[in-house]
Amino acid sequence: EKGGYDHFMLKEIFEQPSTVFDCLRGRVDAANGTITMAGVEANIEQLKNAQRILIIACGTSWHAGLLAEYIIEELCRTPVEVEYASEFRYRNPVIHKGDVIIAISQSGETADTLVAIEKAKEQGAIIFGIVNVVGSSIARASHAGAYTHAGPEIGVASTKAFTAQLAVLAIIALKLGYEKGTLDNKRFLHLLNELEAIPEKIPAALNQAEAIKQLAYKYKDARDFLYLGRGYNFPIALEGALKLKEISYIHAEGYPAAEMKHGPIALVDENLPVVFIATRDSYHEKIISNIQEIKARKGKVIAVITEGDDVITQMADDVIVVPAADELVAPMLSVIPMQLLAYYIGVAKGLDVDKPRNLAKSVTVE
Ligand code: F6R
Repeated sequence: EKGGYDHFMLKEIFEQPSTVFDCLRGRVDAANGTITMAGVEANIEQLKNAQRILIIACGTSWHAGLLAEYIIEELCRTPVEVEYASEFRYRNPVIHKGDVIIAISQSGETADTLVAIEKAKEQGAIIFGIVNVVGSSIARASHAGAYTHAGPEIGVASTKAFTAQLAVLAIIALKLGYEKGTLDNKRFLHLLNELEAIPEKIPAALNQAEAIKQLAYKYKDARDFLYLGRGYNFPIALEGALKLKEISYIHAEGYPAAEMKHGPIALVDENLPVVFIATRDSYHEKIISNIQEIKARKGKVIAVITEGDDVITQMADDVIVVPAADELVAPMLSVIPMQLLAYYIGVAKGLDVDKPRNLAKSVTVE
């Protein structure tokens, strides 16, 4: 059932070329320049007219939501807020009739997310669910939605569900931007092609597995890790840190790279590995300066870079290479080394990576 892999987590990481492909299939047609997503089409007026979009989720799904905020605001110019379901449900949030709420959940059973959307529904919000498990409670509680089609995720740490969530969210942003007219045709077609190309590029990211395994042995005894990224890769820094915490029990923090100097830089010394998600994008020069700041304090830099990036290769202690892609879709590639690094460090420490202590696959209690 693990298909020859040692663990479900590894199997699910390696399934991503086909799960992302399955998620895009029948929805994205770059050759014809079209997007088909029934849930979006049926609610396009509400989406176009929404004064704002609220995204509600927990954990890894919340990280997908954070990235969606950046992408939707860029392409659709609709204000987006991302909330932890557990906070949203217990405070007294301002919800207007016609606000669109996107709830993201792999299991579709997360209690905090479910209660949060029920509360918002009572106040007139439209609920759009992005769920992996078909027929789950959150799918049923939503007015509309889109399934991620990643197949059953058995490993407790979410991997393939995350990349599928990112794919669905990118489709929604592209469709909405196109329909609103905030995204011009040329960029729309370019991004559609870039999105469609992701499943073909994932294998090259997976090919780094052996190299990442070596790094895992080199860094497995570190007490803490820092994960840094900017822009579209900031949510990936958060996700990298979460994966490491849950799978390897090493304390890790994800931060926006420029926020370092406001505190966390005090942690940096020769014992601290710092993972930079530094693929080539519009923040590239800025992140290079952040790498220099860490090197100047003798931190160990592990950088995820775009292939051919000689500048960062010269500066970093170790690099992990991913294929080039437009910055809006590149996180679907840059997250793969995060998953593999956490996995191999967990394995190197002899831990049960499929069933980390204290965690359950779906959190049906608050
Ligand atoms: C992390 C992880 C959790 C879940 C969170 C939300 O690897 O698995 O953080 O992402 O519990 O779960 P869903 O998406 O099922 O609502």
